[in-house]
Amino acid sequence: MCMPAVRLAVKAVSKSYDRPGRGKILALDRVSLTVGEGEFVSLIGPSGCGKSTLLELVAGLARPDQGDILLQGRSVAGCRGHVSYMPQNDVLFPWRTVLDNVILPLQLQGMATKEARQTARQLLPLFGLAGFADSYPHMLSGGMKQRAAFLRTYLCRQELMLLDEPFGKLDALTKIQMQEWLLDIWQRFQHSVLFVTHDIEEAILLSDRIYLFSPRPGRILAELTVTLPRPRSPRLTTDRAFIKLKETLYSRLQTGFLEQEGEAP
Ligand SMILES: Nc1ncnc2c1ncn2[C@@H]1O[C@H](COP(=O)(O)OP(=O)(O)OP(=O)(O)O)[C@@H](O)[C@H]1O
Ligand SMILES: [Mg+2]
Repeated sequence: MCMPAVRLAVKAVSKSYDRPGRGKILALDRVSLTVGEGEFVSLIGPSGCGKSTLLELVAGLARPDQGDILLQGRSVAGCRGHVSYMPQNDVLFPWRTVLDNVILPLQLQGMATKEARQTARQLLPLFGLAGFADSYPHMLSGGMKQRAAFLRTYLCRQELMLLDEPFGKLDALTKIQMQEWLLDIWQRFQHSVLFVTHDIEEAILLSDRIYLFSPRPGRILAELTVTLPRPRSPRLTTDRAFIKLKETLYSRLQTGFLEQEGEAP
């Protein structure tokens, strides 16, 4: 199989936080990973292991203590504006309509409001929001709100998208619909994606590769390539090859956690 060119390279990145009166806490410990051109890569790991921290570092919202972050070979550590980033609790502004929420990145890029609205309006049907341009966020379902936040992220118009648990708060059925929708959207646009999830099935269904993180401080326990054919649909989760991959992932997670517990503090 031909490997895609590297879009993102995270090189031995460590990050700690100061906790007033309680010293430092190490969130990430020498994490290295890559995302290739047009590749869908997931990070999976327990709560608090540093997944969101890693995305914040890649988005340039914070700087690593050690290591480097390269986009197409160029260091972007601490630099913003190079990626499309959907944070974990991305919220829509309640006082703005759906259309005016999603055009924010275009306005920030300096596009006139009229042109930004025109550009975004054309994309509403693709994001399942046809007829809702003038609605306010409280008038949308949970899935629609997430698709609006996703459209806003898409309109940042960067090649690499960082998505932090976009479906984490949705009910099981809506989540399946959203996964199907995302697979379709990704197939059309072929962006490079770095996707965070707690959900093993979701990671396998969507990804080309998966990195497993240890509990904090986050380290890479394992990397798994998902060779299941595309296009994929949520039905694939009942497939024998899918279940086998799920078992592999569970046992790698278990082994990694046990090894970590056995390490000297
Ligand atoms: N700004 C901050 N100041 C201090 N500590 C922080 C800060 N941000 C994160 N942390 C700590 O760093 C660790 C990693 O947090 P992070 O949010 O990256 O975890 P996560 O893997 O995204 O968890 P979850 O799956 O629950 O979203 C946690 O222990 C958290 O308390
Ligand atoms: Mg998080």
